[in-house]
Amino acid sequence: MKKILLTIALVALMTSTAFAAITGSKHDFSGAAYATATGNICIFCHTPHNSDTTVANAPLWNHEVTAATYTLYSGQGTLNATMAQPSGISKLCLSCHDGTVAIDSFGGATGTTNITGAALLGTDLSNDHPVSFLYDAALNTADSGIYNPTTQASGLGSTIDVDLLFGATAGSKTLECASCHDVHRSDETVAFQPMLRKSNTASALCLTCHNK
Ligand code: HEC
Ligand code: HEC
Ligand code: HEC
Ligand code: HEC
Repeated sequence: MKKILLTIALVALMTSTAFAAITGSKHDFSGAAYATATGNICIFCHTPHNSDTTVANAPLWNHEVTAATYTLYSGQGTLNATMAQPSGISKLCLSCHDGTVAIDSFGGATGTTNITGAALLGTDLSNDHPVSFLYDAALNTADSGIYNPTTQASGLGSTIDVDLLFGATAGSKTLECASCHDVHRSDETVAFQPMLRKSNTASALCLTCHNK
């Protein structure tokens, strides 16, 4: 009985801590040729001191930031949100995923290993879900096909605005790459691939915001 309880406790502990961990994730670069001898796994993206503050709301950023100009999504021409160049934390993702900056360009060094394969989005974002635009209550008024982010539950504890959007002002935040992806996610079961914030089984992630 004790053993069973212990197992249950351990499983509970594992499910609560494996969630949102870098170790073992696709973003764990500690085994890469360019990894530092210390085995530090945060250093490719973050530093406790002398961080790059050029990107608003960037979390103690330690990776060279992209300077690319992107081709933006235009959609059906019915999109209510005004599209602008990626800003905020989406720019941080694109600093590896647009392929213009090497993965190992961190801590002031210039690297040589660029991203390849399916994870390379490039600088043409016209075929990608739009990012870096204001998603507020007014957008829901203009487009009833999406929920009001300030009142609609995200399924992750609070509202879409609180759990999935980025910015300092409640009710006036932006949708970013990290609205859908959890950059620190190591416990990817199929439903959470690739590094999704919540399960996308039966398109649950999409239906969090889209009223379809
Ligand atoms: C591949 C790059 C990358 C690595 C490696 C990485 N992070 Fe992050 N981290 C990000 C990005 C991008 C954000 C902003 C997006 C977000 O908040 O989801 C972020 C946000 C954060 C935040 C602020 C938001 C939050 O989730 O609390 C903290 C704290 C953080 N990271 C800590 C860490 C620590 C500690 C490590 C190492 C164990 C680490 N990160 C490794 C890219 C990375
Ligand atoms: C330091 C460089 C770097 C940063 C910053 C970074 N990534 Fe990545 N990311 C990578 C690399 C390298 C891979 C692994 C690609 C592979 O396995 O081929 C990866 C993998 C991924 C994957 C999984 C792809 C798959 O096929 O399973 C996703 C999703 C992803 N990144 C999204 C993001 C998002 C969203 C952000 C910002 C919030 C971000 N990344 C920031 C370098 C980075
Ligand atoms: C609206 C939600 C959403 C947004 C915003 C979003 N993604 Fe994704 N992303 C997904 C989903 C869902 C998939 C899996 C698609 C599939 O399997 O067909 C994915 C796939 C990926 C992959 C893996 C591609 C592959 O084929 O292996 C990478 C890398 C990635 N996204 C990075 C990013 C980056 C960088 C941004 C911001 C510029 C971003 N995503 C914005 C939902 C999103
Ligand atoms: C965090 C909220 C959120 C999530 C999650 C999300 N979307 Fe969106 N999506 C939006 C918003 C907001 C818009 C902009 C709508 C507008 O301006 O009218 C949008 C735009 C779109 C558009 C473009 C519509 C047009 O008029 O061109 C499509 C298509 C779309 N999303 C599909 C998806 C799919 C598929 C998924 C799941 C992989 C997804 N979205 C996940 C919030 C989200």
